[in-house]
Amino acid sequence: MLSPTLFPLFCALFLCLPVAVIFTVQRELTGVASPEFGFRSLSVFSLYARNVPDASPPPPPAIPKDDEPLLRLASHVNPNLPPGSTRKVAFMYITTTPLPFAPLWEMFFNGSSSTDLYNVYIHADPTRDYDPGFSGVFSNRVIHSKRSERYTPTLAAAARRLLAHALLDDPRNYIFALFSPSCVPIHSFDFTYKTLVSSRKSFIEILKDEPWQFERWAARGDDEMLPEVRLEDFRIGSQFWALTRRHARMVARDRRIWEKFDKTCVREDTCYPEENYFPTLLSMGDPRGCVPATLTHVDWTVSDGGHPRMYEAEEVAPELIVRLRESRPRYGENGINGSDWSVSKRSDPFLFARKFSLESLEALLGMAKGVLFNDSACGA
Ligand SMILES: *[C@@H]1O[C@H](CO)[C@@H](O)[C@H](O)[C@H]1NC(C)=O
Ligand SMILES: *[C@@H]1O[C@H](CO)[C@@H](O)[C@H](O)[C@H]1NC(C)=O
Ligand SMILES: *[C@@H]1O[C@H](CO)[C@@H](O)[C@H](O)[C@H]1NC(C)=O
Repeated sequence: MLSPTLFPLFCALFLCLPVAVIFTVQRELTGVASPEFGFRSLSVFSLYARNVPDASPPPPPAIPKDDEPLLRLASHVNPNLPPGSTRKVAFMYITTTPLPFAPLWEMFFNGSSSTDLYNVYIHADPTRDYDPGFSGVFSNRVIHSKRSERYTPTLAAAARRLLAHALLDDPRNYIFALFSPSCVPIHSFDFTYKTLVSSRKSFIEILKDEPWQFERWAARGDDEMLPEVRLEDFRIGSQFWALTRRHARMVARDRRIWEKFDKTCVREDTCYPEENYFPTLLSMGDPRGCVPATLTHVDWTVSDGGHPRMYEAEEVAPELIVRLRESRPRYGENGINGSDWSVSKRSDPFLFARKFSLESLEALLGMAKGVLFNDSACGA
């Protein structure tokens, strides 16, 4: 027998349960109808899931469109993967044009033994035209995007948006790699995947005392970065990194440092927040969690108005790829100087390279199977 005091409570619970179930079902139905990629309705079903034996896993929470709620929600994700789950790589592209090397990337992803090992995300400036549109592995992968331009904080903001979106979209995204439209893969998917997911550290170039260090730091005005970012804390590095889930969440959580970088520059020619914000934040926050190097090869020995060397179709040959594979990244000072002794013994392979001219697509496709995605070809 139930005691007299518990009996009304029991009745109340019994009457409420069907209401909760109906509410849940309605939420599920409206959520499915949403056309936006990755946008699903928040379910209250998870509250009851523990008591229902065959409940399917709760759908992921809704992904907000606006930066403020997007980053806030992403800053609360679990930095660890669900126990026993396979690590995934988030391939994130920032673009203002159609992706010229999409057919090459398509072949690259096609070499994957399973589609469950990666996710693709695109940030596409909505003020530009995309013709042809994104297709194949890239179709329906554009996140809610905003205008993104050089010499402004909008490129770094786009990267933060991609990280936040990818964090929320899939709890199994383990490492988050950023690409431009002129980046290409120079190893097989398997090799690339293994290199990335077997690392406990982020790959991000972190350089100190580079030329223009002061001018870049002061690009928003003298003392504008103070007191949060002192000149000696300021770092420079490639825009193209691969961040672990823990570091991606650190970016989503950060307000203090981002506020300093998210300002209009008074000097355009030294304004590259996307090359300064991430290395500065991570070198201040967790230098030992970083391999201070980029895995995206670039040749700055020939610089043309702030752009690195562009490989033209004529020079795109197996020898070039072999040469790129055989070269090794430059490790930032933190690594060279033994603050992390293991770095001095590292020899990480370049996985990607830029920049390739649009005309070189055919040459790259021609040697994709034999060289580019062939792990036993020389220099692998
Ligand atoms: C993907 O792989 C399958 C099977 O190996 C092949 O038939 C198909 O043509 C490939 N697609 C591309 C775009 O490489
Ligand atoms: C390495 O660190 C030591 C001690 O902090 C310092 O004296 C030395 O100048 C550094 N070397 C380089 C190459 O930065
Ligand atoms: C991969 O490269 C090796 C060494 O150069 C070569 O013998 C082999 O034929 C290549 N594989 C393919 C599929 O082309």
